[in-house]
Amino acid sequence: MSTAAGHGRVAVFPGSFDPMTNGHVDIIERGCAIFDRVIVAVLINADKTPLFSVDERVSIIREVCASRPSVEVDTFDGLLVDYARRQGATALIRGLRAVSDFEYEFQMALMNRRLNHDLETVFLMPAEQYTYTSSRLIKEVFRLGGAVSGLVPPLVEQRLRQKQASIEDRLAGRRKA
Ligand code: PNS
Repeated sequence: MSTAAGHGRVAVFPGSFDPMTNGHVDIIERGCAIFDRVIVAVLINADKTPLFSVDERVSIIREVCASRPSVEVDTFDGLLVDYARRQGATALIRGLRAVSDFEYEFQMALMNRRLNHDLETVFLMPAEQYTYTSSRLIKEVFRLGGAVSGLVPPLVEQRLRQKQASIEDRLAGRRKA
């Protein structure tokens, strides 16, 4: 397993990213201004039924962040603090949009600190226009025919359209059978 020794200040930005939103992109940009390397780490969560597979999410984030050399995209499972330690990270980045995020984020930050005192959680606030953007709402609005442009990268919009088409094809196939 490679570590980040000698690569300056490394931060891990963990999450589900199902899918990546412009809020995430905004947080990554802010993270890049503070850290030498930002590892966007997609959780492999066997319990959830995501819209996009882990591989699809990784490929989207890689493409969206292709012009940022300090961004790396990876996957992880198990405890986040263990993954961060293996990467030589000194910080975890989390986005804080509104007070409603605070309780969950505060619990996680304190638990992670208890598990690893050397790892600091850094909260970054996205631009105001993304304070109400979440992956869950994006999926719901898109599925019901609402416009999500400006809230997600154009690539995500394109992948959402493809995903919707493939779901509709599958449903139509099932109805015929
Ligand atoms: O984007 P999300 O779904 O809010 O991200 C949640 C995430 C991935 C940060 C959190 O579920 C996580 O860290 N999971 C890994 C398992 C772990 O370390 N759990 C203890 C956290 S205190």
